[in-house]
Amino acid sequence: MQLREQNQQDPEEAPNIQVLGTQDESGHETTPKEVDSETRRESDAAMETNASDTQLNEAFDEGKSLTSPALPGESPLAFGELLVAEYRKKGRVEFRKMFELQTGTRLQSSWGVVLHDDIAGQPAGCFLKTSRGVLLLVRRASLEDYVLYMKRGPAIAYPKDAGTMLMMMDVTEGDRVLESGSGSGAMSLFLSRAVGCKGSVLSVEVREDHHRRAVLNYKRWRTSWSLRRGEEWPDNVQFHNSDLCTASSLLAAQGFHAVALDLINPHLVLPTVIPHLHPGAVCAVYLANITQVIDLLEGLRCLALPLLCERIIEVPMRDWVVAPALQKDGSYCARKAPILNEDHWEDETSVEADTEEMTKEKQPAFGSIPYIARPHPEQMSHTAFLVKLRKCVR
Ligand SMILES: C[S@@+](CC[C@H](N)C(=O)[O-])C[C@H]1O[C@@H](n2cnc3c(N)ncnc32)[C@H](O)[C@@H]1O
Repeated sequence: MQLREQNQQDPEEAPNIQVLGTQDESGHETTPKEVDSETRRESDAAMETNASDTQLNEAFDEGKSLTSPALPGESPLAFGELLVAEYRKKGRVEFRKMFELQTGTRLQSSWGVVLHDDIAGQPAGCFLKTSRGVLLLVRRASLEDYVLYMKRGPAIAYPKDAGTMLMMMDVTEGDRVLESGSGSGAMSLFLSRAVGCKGSVLSVEVREDHHRRAVLNYKRWRTSWSLRRGEEWPDNVQFHNSDLCTASSLLAAQGFHAVALDLINPHLVLPTVIPHLHPGAVCAVYLANITQVIDLLEGLRCLALPLLCERIIEVPMRDWVVAPALQKDGSYCARKAPILNEDHWEDETSVEADTEEMTKEKQPAFGSIPYIARPHPEQMSHTAFLVKLRKCVR
């Protein structure tokens, strides 16, 4: 997945990265190739007078007259919260940055500066003018934003895959779930939300540095959440620093509604884990490479565990741009009708007219036909393979 967005102020957060290149020990792609979209676009900064910016300015002025200060259940933006600032031009994100709102601090960008003190007390989703008169949208970081921009140890389970894993495992409120490895803690957060305050997650990580990173990321999200909602995010994840292969004593007498595995050799941990998975429940496995999927299946064949491989899937997701086409001067691009040569047209269509009973008179005018416009259903992009293993009773 490519992240074009910028995230530069807080060294705690990951930079603006394209995740391309080499792989970590789990087979995830890790080598970040930095793309400084802010720098790349700086020369465009002066060109603020396009149609979409004018609309934005109007919306900004209108928004000022709105009376509702915040979403129900949420208060205005407060110091300590995790926020996202973004600037879009012609529907395209030119700048995006996650930051913690802190008193006396400045939000810096090539499009100008906004004082954090001026952001505090504003409603979420407000537009604020930078020192250069550019409108930045300031909103709260969603959980998806947070896991994409938080500081990482190893590569995370991407939100689209994490969401699909939750569905595969049929995780619901009150469940007890085992997860490994904790990594950067992204999957732990999604699991934490899914099981809620009545449920719990045991997250096992072999590397101490990754374990610490996951705990820190979890705490930071919880802190921001309580400032935002005035209520605690459930403290329902128990992070444990140990090798899952040898964690029998940790798992002793425990039963799990689901297991989520995102580690390099999942087949090595299955003998320890599967006795603790309730019969009929699902173990979902996240693997970056199809060769790892094959190793997993080979492991299953040799281990003869009570597991049925129900599905192996990949979750494609691609952004689309759908917007009126504008010329450089801001006017709409005109669609050009073909110039028809009457004689040629009659010759060429005589066969069609015979077979489809189509005549020149029946032809709808150029541009009058609605088209479908969507990605082809067979196209794919790749982050991981998800394997669904169900524990069966023999
Ligand atoms: C790709 S990361 C997991 C990322 C995590 N799902 C997230 O969303 O942030 C894989 C992690 O598994 C850990 N790991 C590998 N083998 C393990 C084992 N046998 N027991 C526990 N953790 C293990 C690695 O140290 C690494 O931190």
